[in-house]
Amino acid sequence: PKTTTPPVKEANGHGNPRDFVAKMVAGKKRLVIFYGSQTGTAEEYAIRIAKEAKSKFGLASLVCDPEEYDFDNLDQIPDDCAAIFVMATYGEGEPTDNAVQLMQNLSDESFEFSKGEHKLDGLKYVIFGLGNRTYEHYNVISKQVDEHLTKMGAARIGLRGEGDDDKSMEEDYLEWKDGMWDAFARVMNVEEGQGGDTADFAVSEIEDSLPAEKVYRGELSARALTRSKGIHDAKNPYAAPISVSRELFQNTHTRNCVHVELNIEGSGITYQHGDHVGVWPSNPDLEVERLLCALGLSEKRDTVIGIESLDPALAKVPFPVPTTYATVLRHYIDISAVAGRQILGVLAKFGPTPSAEAYLRNLNTHKEEYHVAVAEGCLKLGELLQLAAGDDIRATPTTANTTAWKIPFDIIVSSIPRLQPRFYSISSSPKLNPNSIHVTCVVLKYDSAGSQIPPRSIFGVGSNFLLNLKYAASGETPLISADTGSNGTLFPSYAIEGPRGAHHEGSIYKVPVHVRRSTFRLPTNPKSPIIMIGPGTGVAPFRGFVQERVALARRSIEKNGPDALNDWGNIYLFYGCRRSSEDFLYREEWPEYVSELQGKFTLRSAFSREPPYKPDGGKIYVQDLIWQDRTQVADAILNGKGYVYICGDAKNMAKSVEETLARILGEAKGGSAEVEGAAEMKQLKERSRLMLDVWS
Ligand code: 2AM
Repeated sequence: PKTTTPPVKEANGHGNPRDFVAKMVAGKKRLVIFYGSQTGTAEEYAIRIAKEAKSKFGLASLVCDPEEYDFDNLDQIPDDCAAIFVMATYGEGEPTDNAVQLMQNLSDESFEFSKGEHKLDGLKYVIFGLGNRTYEHYNVISKQVDEHLTKMGAARIGLRGEGDDDKSMEEDYLEWKDGMWDAFARVMNVEEGQGGDTADFAVSEIEDSLPAEKVYRGELSARALTRSKGIHDAKNPYAAPISVSRELFQNTHTRNCVHVELNIEGSGITYQHGDHVGVWPSNPDLEVERLLCALGLSEKRDTVIGIESLDPALAKVPFPVPTTYATVLRHYIDISAVAGRQILGVLAKFGPTPSAEAYLRNLNTHKEEYHVAVAEGCLKLGELLQLAAGDDIRATPTTANTTAWKIPFDIIVSSIPRLQPRFYSISSSPKLNPNSIHVTCVVLKYDSAGSQIPPRSIFGVGSNFLLNLKYAASGETPLISADTGSNGTLFPSYAIEGPRGAHHEGSIYKVPVHVRRSTFRLPTNPKSPIIMIGPGTGVAPFRGFVQERVALARRSIEKNGPDALNDWGNIYLFYGCRRSSEDFLYREEWPEYVSELQGKFTLRSAFSREPPYKPDGGKIYVQDLIWQDRTQVADAILNGKGYVYICGDAKNMAKSVEETLARILGEAKGGSAEVEGAAEMKQLKERSRLMLDVWS
C-alpha cells in the first residue's frame, strides 16, 4: 500500500524509523499499541493498557502514534505478539488527524490479500474505541478498524471495548478490561503476576542552582522557553497577548460570558471562520495550594526537579523539564478534574492513618459509593486526600490544617493526566480581523451534587481562567466575584507571573493558544442561502460566518457597485437566549451586519424567559422559530440548495432542531418527518450541506 507520508530519512544504521516491527523486535516488545488521539485521551488509555500489560504479565509494549509509522508490514508482527488499537472517533464519525493514514491503509483493497491469502491471518489484536454517545456516529472508527482487521483474517482478542466520553469513559474502560485481560492471558499464553516494577517516572530534586532560563515555569515547549521562532501548533502553542477582554452579559451577577480577543499579529498563525482555538489554561491557586499542602510539598514548592522516564518507549515525560513542584501542579497536570477511581487504590497505601487508607480503598472498590461521593460530588484529588484524612476542605488550605501524605511525586506525575487545552469555536472572521482571534465563552460555574458533603460551587477551568485573565489585565473585579455562591465557595483566582505558560509582560497578559482546523465552513458561492442555528454561545462561529460575508460584501460592492448583493442568497441566523436585556450576545453588532448586508441577513431571536410565551405558557426556543418560518426554511434548503449549520448543545437543542428540520422537509415533500424528512436530512449531511459543531 502507498502512504502519502514522505519517506523519512533513515537514521544512521538503525534501519527505517517508520518500521514498527523492527522496533518491536529490537526492543523485545511483544505488544504494539496504536492510538488514534485528538486531544490526548486515547493516548492516555493506550499508555494505561501498556502499563497494565507490564504490571500484570511483565510484557513490554511499543506505544505508537500511527502517524509516525508505515503499515505495510502489519502482517509481519511475530506470532507471539499482538497489536492493540485505541481509536477515538472524532466529530461526525471521522478518524482523528493522526489516524487518517492508518484508516486509509486498512481500507485499501490491495492491502487485503497477499499471495491469495488473507493478509493478516494469524495477527492477534485488541481494540478499544473512544466515542461520545451524543453524536450520531458513536464509535464508528473503532468499529471500522475491527471490521477491516477481521476481513483481512486477523483474530480479535476479547470483546471490542467502547467508551462513552459523554458519561462513563472510565467505567466503560474498567468494565471492559478485566474480561479482555482474561482472554488475553489465554490467547497469548501468559500468566498474571509476572509483572515487574511499574513506576513510569523517576523524579529527582536538583541541588545545583540552574540559571532561570533553563527551568520551565509553565512554558509548553522548548521554543517557548528560549523564545526562539518557529511554527505554532499543539506542540508549541503561541503566547498570544490579550488585546480586548469584556463581559457580554448585563444585569446578572450569577452568570457570565467573556469575549476575548487574542492578538496573533506577527505570530505566523492563520485561521479560517469556523476553526477552533485551543486555549491552554492553568489551575487555580486554591487547588495548587491544596495539593502542595496535602503532598507535604508546601515548603519545597520552588525546588527544581528533573523527571526521567524509566521506559521512554512506553511513556514520555508528558511535559517539559526541569521544572518545579508548584509549576507541575499549576500548569502541567489536571488537578482540577474529578479524581479517577483507579488512582485511589494506588494512593490508599500512603494513607497517614489506617482510617484514611480505608477511606480511599472503600471508594476505590465500591463503584456506587465512588459515583455518589466523588463523581457527583465533583471531588478533586486534593479534596479527597483532605477528606480521607479528616481535614476541612472548605478552609483555606495551609500546612497547619492539611494533613501531609507521603506520596512519591513519581506516582502523582504517573497517574494524573496532563492538563489539556480547552477548545472554543472562533467567533471572528480573519477577513475582518486578520490579526486577532475572538473567543466567546460562557463562564462555567455550577453546584456539585452528591449527598456526602454539602454542595460546593464547581468552576470550569478554561472559562474561569479566561475570565480571570481579563481582570488581571484590566485591574477591575469580576462582576461575579461578589457572588461567592449560596455556599460561600470562593471565586477562583490564578497566579499569573512571568515568564510562564500564561504570563504578563508589563500590563499585557498572554495566554498560550493554537488553532485547530475544522470543516465547519461557508459555501464559497454567496448565492447559496444559509441557515445558521446557534442559541447561547452556539452563536460564536456564526458571528465569524456573518463577518466573513460582510467582508465579502464590502469587496463585491467596491468592485461591482451597489447592486452587487442583489443575487446573493438569504442568510438566516436563529439565535436564542433567556432575555433580551440579559444574555443577548453581541446585541449591538447585529444591526450593523444587517445593514451592511443590505437586508440579505435576517436575525431571528428566541427569548425563552420573556414574553411572548406559547399559548400553553411554554418557552419559545430556536426550533419554534424555525417552525414558524418553515416556508422560507424549506424554500432555502430545497429550492435554493441552501446550507444548514447547527452549533451548540448536542443533547437537547441540536436534537430538537434536527427533528424540526426533518418535519419541515418531510412536509414540504408531501410526506412524513420519519421517511421523506429523514431521507432529505441524510442526503444534506452526505453532501455537507448540513453541518454540526456541537458539544455536550
Ligand atoms: P432556557 O434556559 O430558558 O430553558 C441559550 O442557552 C438558550 O437556549 C436559552 O434561551 C435556553 O433556554 C435555550 N434552550 C434550553 N434548552 C433548549 C432546547 N432543548 N432547545 C433549544 N433551546 C434550548
